[in-house]
Amino acid sequence: MLEVRTHTCGELRSDHEGQTVVVQGWAHAVRDRGGLAFLVLRDRHGMIQITIDERCSDAVRSLAKQIRLEYVVQARGVVSRRAEGAINEAMATGQIEIVAEELEILGRTEPLPFAIHEHGSDAKEDVRLKHRYLDLRRPALQHNLMVRHRASQAARRALDELGFVEIETPILTRATPEGARDYLVPSRVHPGQWYALPQSPQLFKQILMVAGMDRYFQICRCFRDEDLRVDRQPEFSQIDVELSFATQPLVRGIAEAVIRTIWRDVLGEEIAEIPILTYAEAISRYGVDAPDRRFGMELVDLTPVLADSAFVPIRRALDDQGIVKGFVVRSGAGDTSRRVLDAYTELVRSYGLGGLLWGKVSAEGVSGPLAKATDDTGRPALLAAAGAEPGDLLLVAAGADKPVHTGLGRLRVHVARERSLIGEGFAFCWVVDFPAFEHDEDAGRWFAMHHPFTSPKAEHLPLLTNGDLGEVYADAYDLVCNGLEIGGGSIRIHDPQVQQQVFSALGIEADEQREKFGFLLDALSHGAPPHGGLALGLDRLIMLLTGAPSIRDVIAFPKTTSAQDLMSEAPSPIPAAQLEELHVQNTRGSA
Ligand code: AMO
Repeated sequence: MLEVRTHTCGELRSDHEGQTVVVQGWAHAVRDRGGLAFLVLRDRHGMIQITIDERCSDAVRSLAKQIRLEYVVQARGVVSRRAEGAINEAMATGQIEIVAEELEILGRTEPLPFAIHEHGSDAKEDVRLKHRYLDLRRPALQHNLMVRHRASQAARRALDELGFVEIETPILTRATPEGARDYLVPSRVHPGQWYALPQSPQLFKQILMVAGMDRYFQICRCFRDEDLRVDRQPEFSQIDVELSFATQPLVRGIAEAVIRTIWRDVLGEEIAEIPILTYAEAISRYGVDAPDRRFGMELVDLTPVLADSAFVPIRRALDDQGIVKGFVVRSGAGDTSRRVLDAYTELVRSYGLGGLLWGKVSAEGVSGPLAKATDDTGRPALLAAAGAEPGDLLLVAAGADKPVHTGLGRLRVHVARERSLIGEGFAFCWVVDFPAFEHDEDAGRWFAMHHPFTSPKAEHLPLLTNGDLGEVYADAYDLVCNGLEIGGGSIRIHDPQVQQQVFSALGIEADEQREKFGFLLDALSHGAPPHGGLALGLDRLIMLLTGAPSIRDVIAFPKTTSAQDLMSEAPSPIPAAQLEELHVQNTRGSA
């Protein structure tokens, strides 16, 4: 008979000795040694050993023989101190055991597709995702979900204390442009019309400011149909924040208060002062706008020192107004094989560079392609500019600004990982002063780097109508930690005229402005306070807090990289009748 447990599996200690207790859990280990059997029961709280020996009744002993791994079992018994040799220091409950008086099987299992190990798992990820209920039994994944719970609670508490009100915004809404494709939902009632799932609650939170809510937050789900990566899911969670009368330092301070509370609650750690880098500085020193600052190997500009180089790849780059940059791998000359250098070259090529100019530095000079960059007289200046010494490996790229920075920036992280140069801990930084607009050569038009509701810097407003859009900077900021963008936000446009100017700059004509954003423009025209905010990526924060290598390890029911839920088998075909009701035609044939 099901009883109410007296204790969880993780909570019993030596001071419970002599007590009769009831515990319930999954059979994590079953060992039968003839007259003596051990059963380890596991629940979310920990593990406890149940001992079945000559002190137990025949009924208990015969029932114990039926128990298989992952059966759900209830045990009643007396807490006893383990014999000296049997104490298990590695187990929180390892000083004691429960001598079984009654056992009951509460649930059985089909043969298991994989074993539930404490830490890793040998099973392929698709098998684990298909049987996610088993995968989630692993203590490591349960830990991640517990950290997620604690972090969410800490964020809520911090924001509540700062006067933020938790408000829900719609899931069935119309498209908001955050740069990804929308997930769409057909309307049955309005034939041919569609809802979009929100890429973020951006416009609703701004409208809540116009509505006078002053300070809003929400731990919300966002939906983006984009290419997935280890740190990207099609549906993910944000700690979304907006406040009225916001200045950039005020918003940054609030985001820091949230992060600091989370780090304190979950890890017991204080975060040091968070440095601020400009976008230009981040790109120049690290090649990317979300720099990993746990290690050095910063990029150095070698353009001036190689200005007269006749070496073809460098000459061609410089004649095309390009740049030459590089970084030093300390003591990397000796142990970096040709095969590894070829792999580095392939990596930078995938970012649009023609190749990699590597050079191994020795007392005699430089060997490798970089040797041709200078003659003997120019070499000391090159090595001094790069900061390279005998024994070092120098990795250099020449080309247009963007591929040089991105290619070397990615290579820098790749080399650091490969050579285990990345230290423990958290290196936070803010990145500010982003360009407001990016020009897409293929599309032949400008795009907003953050989103079109981001305010340009006040001093750049005149450039919107009669200047170079490339010179306009945004009042935007990203929070970065260990090379991950964990949050982003901006001060918003609260003047409807400026908003229209930005739409026009982005090539959104007046009709389209009205059609898509009329409700925003109307709201801004009815007494909008200056406002701003940001959103922290909750899943990425949990990756940092748990050290999980994949975003899928911190989400209870994640999607695969091809956006499938293997357990519930979503997406799935829809019966023709249902499609018809939704006024949708299936061009691929019906289910
Ligand atoms: P942004 O698009 O920068 O800003 O998103 C904010 C943060 O959300 C996280 N994030 C993701 N996490 C997992 N999977 C994804 N596909 C994904 N996309 C983004 C990142 C990112 O920093 N409305 C604005 C915020 C604002 O301006 O207030 C927005 O959504 O950690």
